[in-house]
Amino acid sequence: MSIFDQTIELPSSEIKLKTASLIGFKAKFDRIYTNLKLLLDKDGLLSWSRKFHHTELPAIAHLGDKYPLIILAGDAGTGKTVSAIAIADAMLRDLGKDGFFLKLSTRVRGEGLHGEMGQLVNDAFKELKEQAGKKRIAFLLIDEADAIATTRSTTQMHQEEKAAVNTLIQKIDEMRDMQGRAIVFMSTNRLHFIDEAIVRRAAVILEFERPDTDERQLLFEQDLEGLNLLNDEFTELARLTGPEANNGLGFSFSDLRLKVIPEAIARCYPNKALNYNDLVATIKLIKPSPQII
Ligand SMILES: Nc1ncnc2c1ncn2[C@@H]1O[C@H](COP(=O)(O)OP(=O)(O)OP(=O)(O)O)[C@@H](O)[C@H]1O
Ligand SMILES: [Mg+2]
Repeated sequence: MSIFDQTIELPSSEIKLKTASLIGFKAKFDRIYTNLKLLLDKDGLLSWSRKFHHTELPAIAHLGDKYPLIILAGDAGTGKTVSAIAIADAMLRDLGKDGFFLKLSTRVRGEGLHGEMGQLVNDAFKELKEQAGKKRIAFLLIDEADAIATTRSTTQMHQEEKAAVNTLIQKIDEMRDMQGRAIVFMSTNRLHFIDEAIVRRAAVILEFERPDTDERQLLFEQDLEGLNLLNDEFTELARLTGPEANNGLGFSFSDLRLKVIPEAIARCYPNKALNYNDLVATIKLIKPSPQII
């Protein structure tokens, strides 16, 4: 059994297509890319320095001290997992490089006994290192990282689990030697459970939120294009799925895309057309997924 449940070659046209459907992606990408660009493209940086300063600025040597770690934090169904690979794909396209995206399997982790976690972390980083070549950038996603990277300050934590966190920190430190050829993403919906030493190392901590009213409307408009709903109807769908209509907690991206819309379609398929009333009726049957705290 592989410790990775996905190994994807990037850039990928399939990922690009999925990325295009993500609402609010560009702002998130820009924030990460601005921070990582300097780490990822040392050659580009050196030519920039020679071109504009006729020398290699000493500061460039220190940029490598930054850790190639990005933490994606936020509530369930807000797009952390889909965004990790989307970000990796978009970065590679901009850099004109090829890469690999490795996703550490949560299944393996779930079955792992105490003490095996450290070995798992070792194996994952070993593979990451092997995949990163001169012209290739390797990305590792540790999804739901709170399961591994839990803060060592909790008293119930076993010695073996603490050792795994130590290993993880050590591996992140070693990643700096790869000079931007290996990037680690960690996703979590419990940032406060993640060990402080790991949080401190992150080059960027990107917060994910449930969609606001405009984003919910945009998602309905995007996914139901061709249904010819009126603008007021879209506005009403956005309102009905918002916090005010749902005891203070709105629908997440995944509630809308993977629950509401499919269930509304299922009401109609295969005998009749989908209409506004089907959507409203479905929304009233579904509750937003509970917030993770
Ligand atoms: N920005 C977005 N725009 C449109 N749809 C989105 C967006 N983000 C997420 N989605 C939809 O929600 C689904 C779930 O997203 P994802 O699995 O990345 O959430 P997550 O934050 O990783 O959740 P969890 O914490 O439960 O793992 C995606 O498959 C996609 O359909
Ligand atoms: Mg996820």
